[in-house]
Amino acid sequence: MANELEKENAAIAAMEFVEDGMTIGLGTGSTAKFFVDLLAEEIADGLVVRCIETSEQTRRQAESLGVPLIPFEQVDRIHLTVDGADEVDQAGNLIKGGGAALLREKIIANASDHMVVIADPSKQVERLGQFPLPVEVTPFGYTITARKVYDVLVASGIERPRVELRTQPDGKLVVTDGSNYILDCHCQRIPDAEALAARLSNVPGVVEHGLFIGIARTIIIGNENGATVFEF
Ligand code: 5RP
Repeated sequence: MANELEKENAAIAAMEFVEDGMTIGLGTGSTAKFFVDLLAEEIADGLVVRCIETSEQTRRQAESLGVPLIPFEQVDRIHLTVDGADEVDQAGNLIKGGGAALLREKIIANASDHMVVIADPSKQVERLGQFPLPVEVTPFGYTITARKVYDVLVASGIERPRVELRTQPDGKLVVTDGSNYILDCHCQRIPDAEALAARLSNVPGVVEHGLFIGIARTIIIGNENGATVFEF
């Protein structure tokens, strides 16, 4: 499938940033999965790195492939993090959290010297907001928090937003690795992502939101023949 090839080619290009001796943050999702596969192949061939996972899903993949993981508490420096994204704008700002891993993803990306995003061209947008913005909230008081989040969206110039509690196909609530819930905020168009990010962070009960503003330094967009690298 073209889309899979585009993702894989983005991951191949990201391998250029990997160096022996690095501590590397491993992202979550179908694109990041390609990167973990490639890294595992290099490790089998003698590459020496230590990794830290952004989700239980990635931990399982890494462990199954023999990728060495270390607990976050033992990490004093993360040289590189490679992760996917749900949307990427022209300034390198992102929406993440489609896989419900945004909290650990943001902690690890923010603690890294260099965040590289890998994506296929469908993730590129002129303005963030078509993809529903994930917001992680504490289970305690989540109905009130959802209302406050709605108010923040309206105050941020979003017309007729919709805030939905994320559920699984069987109707059960999605619970994150941090034991929280996810609100998916249907915005269509976010006029000022930076202002919205600041407002959301101020809502009690919001643990983290999926707007990654000014965090990614390199965006790699895969195509069928290779990849294009954008630096910010
Ligand atoms: C998980 C994420 C993922 O990086 C994002 O959803 C992209 O996933 P995929 O590569 O499968 O399209 O933010 O929380």
